[in-house]
This record gives sequence, structure tokens and C-alpha cells, in this order.
Amino acid sequence: MCGIVGYVGKRDAFQVLIKGLHRLEYRGYDSAGVALINKSGDLNVYKTKGKVADLEASIVGKDISGTIGIAHTRWATHGEPNQQNAHPHYSETENLAIIHNGIIENYAVLKQGLMEHGYTFRSQTDTEVLVQLIEFTQLQSQTDLETAVQLALNQVVGAYAIAVLDKRNPDLIIAARKSSPLVVGIGDDEFFLASDATPIVEYTDKVIYLDDEDIVRLERGKGVSVKTLHNVEKTPEIKKLELTLSQIEKGGYPHFMLKEIFEQPTTLATSMRGRVNVEKSNITVAGFIDNKDKFVNAKRIIITACGTSWHAGLIAMYAIEEFAHIPVEVEYSSEFRYRKPVINEGDVVIAISQSGETADTLAAVELAKSKGAFIFGICNVVGSSIPRAAHSGCYTHVGPEIGVASTKAFTAQVTVLTMLALMIGREKGTLTQQQYLNLTKELGNVPQKIEKILEQNAHIEQIAEKYKDALNCLYLGRGYNYPVALEGALKLKEISYIHAEGYPAAEMKHGPIALISEGMPVVVVAPHCGTYDKIVSNIQEVKARYAKVISVVTEGDEEVSNLSDDTIIIPATEESLTPLLTVVPLQLLAYHIAVKKGCDVDQPRNLAKSVTVE
Ligand code: AGP
Repeated sequence: MCGIVGYVGKRDAFQVLIKGLHRLEYRGYDSAGVALINKSGDLNVYKTKGKVADLEASIVGKDISGTIGIAHTRWATHGEPNQQNAHPHYSETENLAIIHNGIIENYAVLKQGLMEHGYTFRSQTDTEVLVQLIEFTQLQSQTDLETAVQLALNQVVGAYAIAVLDKRNPDLIIAARKSSPLVVGIGDDEFFLASDATPIVEYTDKVIYLDDEDIVRLERGKGVSVKTLHNVEKTPEIKKLELTLSQIEKGGYPHFMLKEIFEQPTTLATSMRGRVNVEKSNITVAGFIDNKDKFVNAKRIIITACGTSWHAGLIAMYAIEEFAHIPVEVEYSSEFRYRKPVINEGDVVIAISQSGETADTLAAVELAKSKGAFIFGICNVVGSSIPRAAHSGCYTHVGPEIGVASTKAFTAQVTVLTMLALMIGREKGTLTQQQYLNLTKELGNVPQKIEKILEQNAHIEQIAEKYKDALNCLYLGRGYNYPVALEGALKLKEISYIHAEGYPAAEMKHGPIALISEGMPVVVVAPHCGTYDKIVSNIQEVKARYAKVISVVTEGDEEVSNLSDDTIIIPATEESLTPLLTVVPLQLLAYHIAVKKGCDVDQPRNLAKSVTVE
């Protein structure tokens, strides 16, 4: 939701902070700000509405010196995106400055109490209430900053990742987290703080992933120390960062999203490396092997996720039920966490999340865990909150996904879920050895088949040119490709702002067909599969209403191609693996339409890469 960066050491803090904000801008970008303590001990806060580039433009000529600072890029939760509500926020005396990612649920009560002590507020944010509470606590208890933060946070209900500066101690940053991510980087008497590792990777590979309710002191000359909200000293576990700088650069592509679409042959191979042995036609995923009885004996599997990850879960439902004969329920995490679901001991809950920080999915995990379910996380960000909350899991290992619209993470999620379905089916004997061998071998062929689809990029761009001015678009698919239709529609609407809906193709007759007007684009995902003949009928129904049909078909197809206005070919593959191929043309179609419309593809309006608040 928001991006946090902090630095204390010997470098020019502003340069470290502003570069870090650019790396985190995918997390939120409606306002940005920085707080620096210069050599004279002045605490300077500069902030502006807009993007990080707007912040850089706004500080020309200002004193941005200093070797300690904190910085923030915001996705608004309380208070509209404007300069007053941008972070950092001063305390009343302007001795303190704070940045925050999360939501203080009880901020109104805390604010009322502070106002009764004469405090006034410049902004509408919950964050400013927190920094005033810290200052009030410091003054009332005559304590140091760390203790004041600790005492104040004990009064807070909600989610936070915060960093606080006190101009009276220019060597110290105090930070803390609960339900929002925070990573510490350790250099040579210099310390970094960030919402994820991307601002840290070029300086050090030694990191600490903070736990919920950790409070950390980063002090020049004295090092790093961690204690809990309840004043229990902790020995932090220093880990080696797996990330590299090249992984977070665009690599010559115009947008991160295009780079990540083209990375998919490589990233899928990576997500299968060491897990899918094509020669031996065998799949081994450690997290599954160690817990296979839980899966084999499960009476039900619940999948909880949001957005694109939910679409991956829907595909998994088809695969697990087909191969393992276990009933699967796919839940939107935001609904699942509140609808008082029936969860039994022995249920297996699979939580899917690229960021590993989605608040609703994390809450769904905690709920299911509290009722005795076994939690298996499928995430991409190592050390993020959901994998740490799960009993076991499997990382997708596609590297950082910077584009807000998920692409490579989605295909990796589907790959891992397919591996899981095959392993369960083999263990249960509901999948014949020959089926298992065929599917495992074909899974190993998917990366090179995606390469062939990517060769049609120019062709897909030409199709995008024809439909870039559409106001509405319908996506249709059946079986394994119904979730692909949903995903294609989501890609188009979230980056081009064109209204798009995905439907099971047969469902169209129950209302949506009324939407069809002359020339309206209808994307039909129609690879060779069991329901191919049925979808041909659906295409004829939309053609009869003068829609324009864009079809995704299997090489050699004739019937659907002859009915279509535009066709994109995919290589033949097993029906259950078609989503890994059919989604790629839809990713490219959405990308090119958005670019042609002049939309901000990597940072679409109103969105954020990781929704760490409700
Ligand atoms: C996908 O393109 C969107 N950016 C969004 O739907 C995303 O999939 C959703 O917010 C879930 O995020 P997660 O996978 O990090 O939990």
C-alpha cells in the first residue's frame, strides 16, 4: 500500500532515500515525502502530492543535506491524496517525524484524547495521530524515543510499519511493524529500512525480516537491536538476500509489465527447477512432501486469495478436483474472513498471494489457523507475512514483480498449483501413472511453448490497435479457461480502464448477451478441449449480434478461426495446462491497448501492488 525507506550511516541520505522511493513506487504513488536531519540538527520535512518525481522537482534549492532520513510514497487510506496528508508527519513540537504504512483502526479515540490535552492536527491522517501520541507519551513519561514508541504502540489497534526520527538524536531511527512489512538492511555502520528488499539490494545482502510487534533501533555507531512491544529483547536473525539488482531493473523494456510478460518462459522454468524432473517425469515440492498426508487425507481444500491470485486458485480447483478428487472451495479472502465460514480440523487451506502481504488473505490465514486448518502458502516474496504465518508452503520464485498488474506471478502460481494437484493425485492413486507421466512431461514443455506465443507480440499489438477505443469488452471461456477469461478481463480493466467482464461462455445467454452491441469486442478463449464444440455455438451467438470476435485458439484450428475477426494461435497442449498458454495473449492484448491509450501501465491509477489494508 505505501512504501517506506529509512537510512542512517555515512552516505548522502537523500540519494539513498529518493532512489529507494522509486523502487517502491509500485506500492503506492499518490503522494511522497522525505524527512532529513542535517548537520546542524535541523529536521527538514519535504512532501508533495503526486509521484516521487514530483517530490524531486519540489525540493530544488532546498537543504537536503544529512546522513540520516526517512521517506515515504503513499497510497491513501485516511485523508485524500494531498500535501497536508502526505508523509512524513511532524509532531506538534516538530522534534519528531514519522512515516507509516497501514491503518490505525482506533485513531479517532486516540485523537480525541490528544485533543483534550490541547493537541491540534494539520492533516486528516491516522499517522499524524500516532506521532502526536508518541510525543505526548514521551513528554508525559519523560522517556527516550524507543520507550515512547513502545508505550504508544501498546495503545494502538491496527496495522503499521513505521519509522520515527527525533532531531535531538541524529544517529537514531526507531521502527516497528505489525501486519505491514518491514525489512532492515545491515551495512558497515550504516543501516537501511524498507517495506521490501528492493531499495536495499544495491547496498547490502544482509537483511533482517522483522516480525509482527518488533521494535527495532538502528543507531549509528551502536548497531541494530530488536525488542518486542512487550519489552522482550530479541536476537534478530540476519539472512542473506537472494535478490539481485538486475532483477529489479527494466532490462531495456519500456515497462516492467512487458519485461515480466516476456520473462515468463524463464520464470516458469525457475519455478519448476529442482521440482519438476522431466527426464524422470517426477515432481517433488518439499513443502508438499513433508505434509503429504494432510493433503491426501483432506476431506476438503479451501483456497483463499484476492484478484489475480484468486483466478489462479479457480484454475487449481479444476485441476485438484480432476486429478485428486478432493472437493475444492475457492474463496475471496475479504469475504471468507468475515462470513463465519465452517472450517474443520483437517481442512487444508491454500493461501495464494504474490506479495505475501495482502491484508485480507493474511487475515483469512489467521482465521483458518485458529480453527485448526493446515495452512499452505503459495507466495512470491520470500520472508513476507503470509509464508511466515503458514504451516508450510512453496515460493513461486519468479523474482520481484514490479508491474502492478500481475503476469509472471500468475503463471507461476498456476504452475505450482498444477504441480500440487499432480502430486496429490499420484499419492492418492486417483491419477494413473501414465497420466502423471504425460502431464509432468508436458508441464516441462510449457516454457518453450510460451516463447512461441511471445513471437506473436507484433500481431497482438496490431489487434490492440483495432480495439483500443472500445468502451466495453467481454471475455468468454469454459472449463479451465473460464478463470482465464476472468483474468484477461481484469488485466484489461486495471491497466487500460476499459470496462471488461469475464464470464463462463455458456453463462452469456443468461443476461450478459444483452450487452452485445455492434462492433463490441468479445474475446473468446477457445483452445482445443472437451467443450470446444459448445464454445463454437457461443461464438455464433455473439456473431449473430454483430460483435467483433477475438479468439485464442490452438494451432491447426479452423472452425473458430473462420468465425473470428482476429485470431491468436497457441501451441497444442494438455487441456489442464492450456491456461498457462492462453493467458499470455490476453496479457499482451491488455498491455498494448493500455500503452496505446497512454495509460500508466506499471502504475495504474487508484491501484497499488500490495493491498496491505482492508
Ligand atoms: C492483479 O493484476 C492485481 N494487481 C491484484 O488483483 C492482485 O492480484 C491482488 O491484489 C492480490 O495480490 P497478492 O497476490 O499480492 O495477494
